Amino acid sequence: MIVTVTLTPALDKTVVLPAFHVDQVNRIESLRLDPGGKGINVSKVLDALGTRSLATGILGGGTGRYIEKSLKDMGIACDFVWVEQETRTNLKVIDPVEHTNTDINEPGAPVAPAVLEAVFDKVKAAVGPGDIVVLAGKAPAGAGDGVFADWIARLNALGAQCYLDADAGLLIQGAAAKPALIKPNDVELGRLLGRGFDGIADMAAAARELVKSGIGAVVVSLGGDGALFVTRDQILRGHGLKVAVQSTVGAGDSMMASMAHGAATGMAFRDTCALAMAVSAATVMTPGTQAADMNVVKELLKQVKIEEL
Ligand SMILES: Nc1ncnc2c1ncn2[C@@H]1O[C@H](COP(=O)(O)OP(=O)(O)OP(=O)(O)O)[C@@H](O)[C@H]1O
Ligand SMILES: [Mg+2]
Repeated sequence: MIVTVTLTPALDKTVVLPAFHVDQVNRIESLRLDPGGKGINVSKVLDALGTRSLATGILGGGTGRYIEKSLKDMGIACDFVWVEQETRTNLKVIDPVEHTNTDINEPGAPVAPAVLEAVFDKVKAAVGPGDIVVLAGKAPAGAGDGVFADWIARLNALGAQCYLDADAGLLIQGAAAKPALIKPNDVELGRLLGRGFDGIADMAAAARELVKSGIGAVVVSLGGDGALFVTRDQILRGHGLKVAVQSTVGAGDSMMASMAHGAATGMAFRDTCALAMAVSAATVMTPGTQAADMNVVKELLKQVKIEEL
């Protein structure tokens, strides 16, 4: 079982708007609505990979209901905690003429401690030993930076495996609670360790230190430059695939989903890393927050280069 947690979901409204200008009337050429938020994105990619997951977190209002219905229509199991406040809608403006991507994001509503505990109860009820819990994204206002650290400690005690994708204080505290996997990008890794890096080898050594501290695996994503996959036994470098980039939104989430899929289906670690490279590259080839096309993934897998450092 894989459970994904999204404490700050959003409905992503992606509009294509050629020659977008401020201070003018702008006419939308096309529009699409996608359920978004990091954990939800992971569930969508898992679904595309053929692995079932349970999506939980916090939803509210008509927007929340739309997100739940969209996920259920995709066949993704949902069990969210419902609140009064409307779930956010985030506007993404794609301008194909000026080649710009503009995000206009709503702030999320503050959340009461009892709501967070209700989400945790749902996670706890769903998982058993060996199950994977993906904790991804920001914490809502009112939650504090320790929320994932607290959950990881309690889930570790239940024998579950926590995969953490967060930044800043949430990542710093969460990493100290020894999750099974973290997936910072290079900037987030720098913030976690409070230092910059002198090349790939230095970054790999830093990830190795984190593994020695008790984190199962550290995946450092490097955007178009690929990724590092570090465990106790291996340091693998996935070289960036050269693809036509449409939107990098969700690239990290697709990497996270691939790692969880590989672990849940018993794939060899190296094969899981190769899949993560192909799926994340395929994701940047799709606009908005749509999951990757699996036919594209199959083709890209042939081009993946994994090197042992
Ligand atoms: N321009 C690109 N070309 C090819 N692959 C890419 C590109 N950008 C991202 N990827 C793939 O996606 C992975 C994750 O991307 P990235 O490092 O940007 O994650 P991130 O910063 O966590 O993104 P986000 O949190 O916004 O989803 C990379 O390791 C790489 O495999
Ligand atoms: Mg990320």
